[in-house]
Amino acid sequence: MLHSVRVDDRLTLHSTSTPCMEARKITKLVGRKGIEVIRGIDLSLYPGELAVLMGPSGSGKSTLLNILGLLDQPTEGELFIQGRGVERMSDRDRSRIRGREIGFVFQAFHLIPSLTVIQNVLVPSDLAHLSRKASVPRAHHLLERVGLAHRIAHFPSELSGGEMQRVAIARSLINEPSILLCDEPTGSLDSRSGEQIMTLIHSLTKEGGRAVLMVTHDPRWGDMADKHFEMCDGRIESLPMRRCNHDSTLHAA
Ligand SMILES: Nc1ncnc2c1ncn2[C@@H]1O[C@H](COP(=O)(O)OP(=O)(O)OP(=O)(O)O)[C@@H](O)[C@H]1O
Ligand SMILES: [Mg+2]
Repeated sequence: MLHSVRVDDRLTLHSTSTPCMEARKITKLVGRKGIEVIRGIDLSLYPGELAVLMGPSGSGKSTLLNILGLLDQPTEGELFIQGRGVERMSDRDRSRIRGREIGFVFQAFHLIPSLTVIQNVLVPSDLAHLSRKASVPRAHHLLERVGLAHRIAHFPSELSGGEMQRVAIARSLINEPSILLCDEPTGSLDSRSGEQIMTLIHSLTKEGGRAVLMVTHDPRWGDMADKHFEMCDGRIESLPMRRCNHDSTLHAA
């Protein structure tokens, strides 16, 4: 069920726009015994929205994120990306939509050690068979935006943790996805680097009108977020409305 709150007279965006991503009654059972890891998750993300997903370790946050990012499939439930149901899509269409619509940032960066910074950034566009003619200038632009223009020919082993995460952010945006999924992106960084990464993700996503779902244990994200989900034992437990700092209507699915 969708509840909406009008924030002021200008703000009717969500009542008319389609969510970039909508999960309906997503459940995941794992192992031979069918252990329930997440149950009946309803969640919507709208363009330009930064949503934070918090909850204790083991509550199912990464499992949910992997399903939303089409890295894993739910046991039950439906997922819509840009209004299109993904359950009935062919593997090819799913890979295509994952490559073009969804960017990922993980705690452990997952850069390829044998590739340079710019080669790492270009991996998703190569996988999506996008033209290098367009993607190389975009990679340069993104590396400039994340403050690493001077590091393009370096290898990951020559970078700090914060720099590696900035490369991962540039990589996540290379295909201009409409949705960015982040799993504890500041979890292995010191406080200062973490704060730089937070500011960067916030400004890059707001500029691009992207929807972001941020899994984090860091309460500082709460101050930046438009929407706050809390997971507990595989369910979305509570949805306190957050302040609204942009032209939108707050929703809780
Ligand atoms: N394939 C699997 N087989 C068995 N149990 C699994 C499997 N995948 C996940 N789980 C269990 O599901 C629960 C949720 O795991 P998940 O990684 O989603 O938690 P999380 O909220 O991301 O935790 P953290 O904050 O520590 O990253 C955990 O208890 C985990 O052990
Ligand atoms: Mg996790």
